[in-house]
Amino acid sequence: MKNIYDVNLDGKKVFIRTDFNVPLDPSQNITDDSRIKAALPTITYALEQGAKVIVASHLGRPDGKVVPEFSMTRVAKRLGELLQKEVRTAPDCIGPEVRKMTDAMGKGDVLMLENLRYHTREQKNEDAFAKELAELCDIYVNDAFAVCHRVNASVAAITKYAPISVAGLLLKKELDYFHKAMSDPRRPLAAVVGGAKISSKLRALENMLDHVDLIIVGGAMANTFLKYKGYEMGKSRMEADLADAAGRVMEKAVEKGIRFYLPVDLVVAAQLSDTVSCRIVPADAVPKDMMALDIGPASSQLFREVLCDALTIVWNGPMGAFETEPFSQGTLAMVKTIADTQSLSIIGGGDTDAAVHKAGETERISYISTGGGAFLALLEGKTLPAVQALEKAASLQ
Ligand code: 3PG
Repeated sequence: MKNIYDVNLDGKKVFIRTDFNVPLDPSQNITDDSRIKAALPTITYALEQGAKVIVASHLGRPDGKVVPEFSMTRVAKRLGELLQKEVRTAPDCIGPEVRKMTDAMGKGDVLMLENLRYHTREQKNEDAFAKELAELCDIYVNDAFAVCHRVNASVAAITKYAPISVAGLLLKKELDYFHKAMSDPRRPLAAVVGGAKISSKLRALENMLDHVDLIIVGGAMANTFLKYKGYEMGKSRMEADLADAAGRVMEKAVEKGIRFYLPVDLVVAAQLSDTVSCRIVPADAVPKDMMALDIGPASSQLFREVLCDALTIVWNGPMGAFETEPFSQGTLAMVKTIADTQSLSIIGGGDTDAAVHKAGETERISYISTGGGAFLALLEGKTLPAVQALEKAASLQ
């Protein structure tokens, strides 16, 4: 795969596909601009090289309709503030008006196209739509790691039509970190997996059995593993139909000599609420009328001890319902544990990222991925279709 450093950008119209799918509050203010900041190195580099920069992204899921709440205008404004220069906005992402605007651009100009998902053709990976996007530029740059698991026109089909297709610096960095962690790690390599549902992480767990030296499972998904062990889990969230699959993962881990850890104690309550009274119980003693909502302090201590010698740690998914105060401690303790290690630590997924921010530990984590679904797809051992498309384009260029 070629990257932006491999091509001459001077005076060229450079189409940079970013993932500016940022969270918005009900008044459409951007509540977290990390994804915009993460694309700045690529955009700044292109501008320094004398490019005319066309930025494109989707925002939300407008499903082919022009939904004003999902207009890219406010994102363009924030990008302009961060770049400290004017970012103009186009009324659409394709069409004669947009073409006129891109043709009139000068070196160092930045133009933000309107939401790609105002057209259903984007998510259908439609060739004619991709061709229209590609015709806007001389060079196509994919810097949208978090969309690379999608087969969408602006990350997949476009590479068939753009004269040159390369990766941006964020995409390169994301893939480099991931491969450093999973393909060529300093060992021991530990995986910490949490979150609500085992169904969404099962393939990732299965794949990680081929790579890691130890696995820690927390969050509501640990309940299904505990159930398999024969523990009564009261009213805890579970996927009982996947208990056998969870059991197979544990057995395979044992066969392969992988150390596998589950919580040994849990924070339980009658319901998930800020004001509910909660208790700490051993993992095999969840009362019938209660549910497990966080790992307990003994589990946090155990996980701290087993992670202290890890040289690489990959973490996806919180240890409990951390957004609700009484159940935040297990996840915050995990952030601190990982931050305190000397390991190369890589964290992916929106919730896990939010937990690291909440704990104020972003500086002591080696890398926080911008991808949720894309990061999980890599953990599952999949090749990202948009990356495959770039590789294919590079082989033909
Ligand atoms: C994300 O936020 O994970 C990416 O922007 C992909 O968005 P999507 O899940 O709507 O395809």
